[in-house]
Amino acid sequence: MIALLFLFSGCVQPEVQQGVTESVVSEEWQPDGILGGNEYSHSLKLYSPARQGYTGGAMTVSWKIDDEYLYMALNGSTRGWLAIGFEPTEWMKDADMVLGFVDGSARVLDEYSTGNYGPHINDTMLGGTDDILEYGGKSYGTHTVVEFRRKLDTGDRFDKVLRPGQNVSIIWAMSGSMDPGVKHNIAYGEGMIYLGRVQSSALQSSQKASQNNITKNVTQNDADWMLFIWKEEKAARDLYESFYERTGLTLFLDLMRSEQNHMDQIQALMKRYGMETPVLERGVFDNQTLQSIYNDLLSISSDDGALRAAATFEEISILDLERAIAETGNKEIIDVYSGLLAGSRKHLRSYVRTLENRGIKYTPVYMSRSEFEGIVRAA
Ligand code: HEM
Repeated sequence: MIALLFLFSGCVQPEVQQGVTESVVSEEWQPDGILGGNEYSHSLKLYSPARQGYTGGAMTVSWKIDDEYLYMALNGSTRGWLAIGFEPTEWMKDADMVLGFVDGSARVLDEYSTGNYGPHINDTMLGGTDDILEYGGKSYGTHTVVEFRRKLDTGDRFDKVLRPGQNVSIIWAMSGSMDPGVKHNIAYGEGMIYLGRVQSSALQSSQKASQNNITKNVTQNDADWMLFIWKEEKAARDLYESFYERTGLTLFLDLMRSEQNHMDQIQALMKRYGMETPVLERGVFDNQTLQSIYNDLLSISSDDGALRAAATFEEISILDLERAIAETGNKEIIDVYSGLLAGSRKHLRSYVRTLENRGIKYTPVYMSRSEFEGIVRAA
């Protein structure tokens, strides 16, 4: 659907290497807040830049699984709380959350978010069970580490069932406060983790070698895609802003903010590769394809029509992100795109459910029926 229109020349060096790293587990797991280099099989570095209300920061999630348990560590740039949520359906809603902080000693809470913006309540207060079997943590100057162990399938309806080999969509957030009732003000975001098994050392070292080759350079195609995806997120942001002004529906305002967050993430990624984003006013694009999609969708005047148009735009975003992921071998870029993809799927769900609540059935325009149903009916 999308032609690549942008030309870059040469390869540039990233400032920071980010993304998933894999290790052979050779150390015993200890929930002591001290992260051994070989205690976890996978690590994902997540980053969100500063923006209004947020100072910006990074959090690394490390994990390993065995037949029965998930072992996880959160290591973030905060002295307050840090949290991960598994498989939200929209915004923070229905996320199976684990929130930790270190106030002298560590506390790790088993929570569940019942609404789009919380509240996130201890599972026990909702009639569930506390399934954090072991935990610990430490604070280090500007950082906090918490570690915990839970069953992959706890049997509690307020915990998502996790399966080996599964790609799990996650949300994450950090606050400067240790009070779990105080909202995040450092960073928040989305991502995807793969619940893989520990690899053999031979496979792992060959993977590391190829990974390093890829992440040293950004290819022409990756550069083109990054710029295109940034522009597509801008088109969504501009569209939702205009729809909000026209309809007054707060969903558009919320999702406009989320699209700004997606733009910031891509911009931060591009910056690390020495790339810049163009300065473009609202509703203006230097790509004719995007300009005409944007103009067509903007000409829709009814509230229901705007919601349908927004759902269609999310379909386009999802398909383009999937193509961009399929065309790159760069792990760092894949990790950022995967987070955006998890976000766009949540957005599509939000629009489709809002239409359903208004008595309107949305039929996918670009996506296959099976992919659409898989996203929208995910619980
Ligand atoms: C006291 C606790 C919390 C409150 C009051 C709260 C409130 C909110 C609000 C109002 C937003 C909308 C964006 C904004 O205003 O900046 C938001 C977004 C978000 N929150 Fe929270 N939150 C809390 C805890 C958490 C936790 C523990 C997590 C992660 C496990 C989390 C993850 C997120 C994410 C990922 C978004 C963006 C959702 C999206 O764009 O789809 N929040 N939250």
